[in-house]
Amino acid sequence: MKGFGSDNHAGVLPDVLDAIAAANVDHATSYGADEWTARAEQRFREHFGEEARAFLVFNGTAANVVGLRAMLRPYEAAICAETAHMNTDECGAPEFIAGIKLLPVPTPDGKLTPDLVRPKLVRFGDEHAVQPRVVSITQSTEMGTVYSIAEIAALAELVHEQGLLLHVDGARLANAAASLGVPLRALTTDAGVDALSFGGTKNGLLTGEAIVLLRPGLAEAMAFLRKQSMQLASKMRFVSAQFEALLDGDRWREPAAHANAMAARLAGALEGVENVKITQAVQANAVFAILPQGVAERLRERFYFYTWDEATGEVRWMCSWDTTEQDVDAFAAAVIQEATSSTPVGRSPRG
Ligand SMILES: Cc1ncc(COP(=O)(O)O)c(C=O)c1O
Repeated sequence: MKGFGSDNHAGVLPDVLDAIAAANVDHATSYGADEWTARAEQRFREHFGEEARAFLVFNGTAANVVGLRAMLRPYEAAICAETAHMNTDECGAPEFIAGIKLLPVPTPDGKLTPDLVRPKLVRFGDEHAVQPRVVSITQSTEMGTVYSIAEIAALAELVHEQGLLLHVDGARLANAAASLGVPLRALTTDAGVDALSFGGTKNGLLTGEAIVLLRPGLAEAMAFLRKQSMQLASKMRFVSAQFEALLDGDRWREPAAHANAMAARLAGALEGVENVKITQAVQANAVFAILPQGVAERLRERFYFYTWDEATGEVRWMCSWDTTEQDVDAFAAAVIQEATSSTPVGRSPRG
């Protein structure tokens, strides 16, 4: 049964599986010295510009953490939103593996702004204080919101003015670009981003994410850092073949746009429904909501999804490339039925 737990719960795009099968021929040199990897790297340059250097890794945590290793020294720090995946859901890997400190900033909607970042840009040159070196934003954010190009450019301006680097956790960059109707480079290369993690798995790959370094010079140590971080695939061609397929022209856009459209459909169906409070702007493929006590538990008997915030009972409903209109409509009907036969939202936050 399909649920609304995560875009990671969906399977693999059929043409991506076909691409893996098509790569399953003969012998190919290992560790990325193969023709599929060369073509995938070329695709990254097509989407992110000639300077872009892509390094494929197994998962999104590694893309973030190994990317950070290329940018920070052990006494430096990355500023990120408090809700950033690297801060909340990577088991301290940035600290443990990259050996750096995260400086989390509370935000109302998962988005950093120059005003939120500025107070952290202090004590430069003071040997007693960790030195801010990177600002990392997530696009689309963990709260399902999307930075506009202007918002990213404003952050890039501040960050570069201060001699820092701008990093994007783009586990769902495709959803953001689809939401804004722009090419991938408009949100990254052209907006002043220095490095990013580019997500594949949430947009229909079997496995694989990419570290994409945009600023010349950043890539120098990356091959060594990736291997040392245990993220160099020996049979790389099977990871590369997936990216070659996903980044063939605008192939990446359709599954992401579809997931976004399903989230918009769900939010639309629940708009104005008594006892359902949608808590974030629905700009990508996630819907966040607060429901009356007990409703989430009853819904979960039939549909899988997570509670995002135990304190408030806020839930997250995530749509994927394979979510159908029928899935959404059946779920929305169940939410409406359960919520409208319950007592109002937010009476007693759960502890
Ligand atoms: C925004 C974001 N970044 C990074 C990751 C990490 O991906 P992985 O679980 O593949 O390590 C996730 C996964 O949920 C994510 O949502």
